[in-house]
Amino acid sequence: MKILVTGGAGYIGSHTCVELLNENYDVVVLDNLSNSSEESLFRVKNITGKSLEFYKADLLNKKQILAVFSEHKIDGVIHFAGLKAVGESVSIPLKYFHNNITGTLNLLAVMNDFNVKNIVFSSSATVYGDPASLPIKEEFPLSATNPYGRTKLMIEEILQDLYHSDKNWNIALLRYFNPMGAHKSGEIGEDPCGIPNNLMPYISQVAIGLLPQVSVFGNDYDTPDGTGVRDFIHVVDLALGHIKTLPKLFTNPGLVIYNLGTGIGYSVLEIIKGFEAASNKKIPYKIVDRRPGDIAACWADPTKAKEELGWKANKTLADMCKDTWNWQKNNPNGYGESL
Ligand code: UD1
Repeated sequence: MKILVTGGAGYIGSHTCVELLNENYDVVVLDNLSNSSEESLFRVKNITGKSLEFYKADLLNKKQILAVFSEHKIDGVIHFAGLKAVGESVSIPLKYFHNNITGTLNLLAVMNDFNVKNIVFSSSATVYGDPASLPIKEEFPLSATNPYGRTKLMIEEILQDLYHSDKNWNIALLRYFNPMGAHKSGEIGEDPCGIPNNLMPYISQVAIGLLPQVSVFGNDYDTPDGTGVRDFIHVVDLALGHIKTLPKLFTNPGLVIYNLGTGIGYSVLEIIKGFEAASNKKIPYKIVDRRPGDIAACWADPTKAKEELGWKANKTLADMCKDTWNWQKNNPNGYGESL
């Protein structure tokens, strides 16, 4: 069974490639390396002792996608590729819409032409906007609060329309909560470009001494300690969610939607404490204003994925912090330079 992974050199993509290879899938990666490094794929091969095919290609270039489908008999696609920085999407929305939406349309058109109609789409809990209650179930109302989130929501809607037009498609929309952690080998992990936007890479760069302190965005939310609460999920658990989704996709389920989260919310301060314990480092922080667009709290009801896919997240907050630290200390400059 051959799986095309778009964005396979990225953070979630590379961890998913490891688990696909471990399960003996053949893997073809398409990535434009705009926010990732081919080094991650060399390391995927080291971890698994298996090889994969890599195309440095862009979903905006349809000819490049056609080349991949002409050269391989693809059974299904896991579609991670896309721009993902919330703040940047507010400043340059057209780039986000062009890249994420047009790229996906090109991919779907080629899949359709080659009669490859099985796709797992990398969606996000951001499609729930500011949820009216918690935990979040898949049938909750959807909304977007920024252009990045709108691209996720629009792609979900495009896929729904596609399915309604042609019931031969099998589509899984996986809504991720907040991924963190790294592979236990310390070989692959999150390697953000420039100053990280997300909490976990920011904390780990403070721990390694690249950044002076964490800014905690608000301590006046209606949460137990006043700081934001999120459902942090280990990236390997998330990758395994894809492994459980593929067999389901090949049973012709039509369009299915799953939350991939742990069902547990941790606050920003709890994450900082967890990271201090794992790294044995003091993490200086200061409370600053809320970040515009942030919500107070967000965590999943992951029951549906457990019942229908037999998947649940198993790793703890301590695992997530320990594995992030292991990756960060072995690779202080990410894939740029290893010790
Ligand atoms: C954001 C996006 C989400 C996206 C995810 C991964 C929104 C609203 N959120 O999630 O769609 O999938 O990134 O790219 O679209 N925090 C700090 N200091 C920091 C950084 C973060 O206090 O330096 C706090 C935030 O206020 C929040 C929590 O940490 O309470 C998590 O933030 P972050 O890691 O950026 O993820 P989200 O905003 O939840």
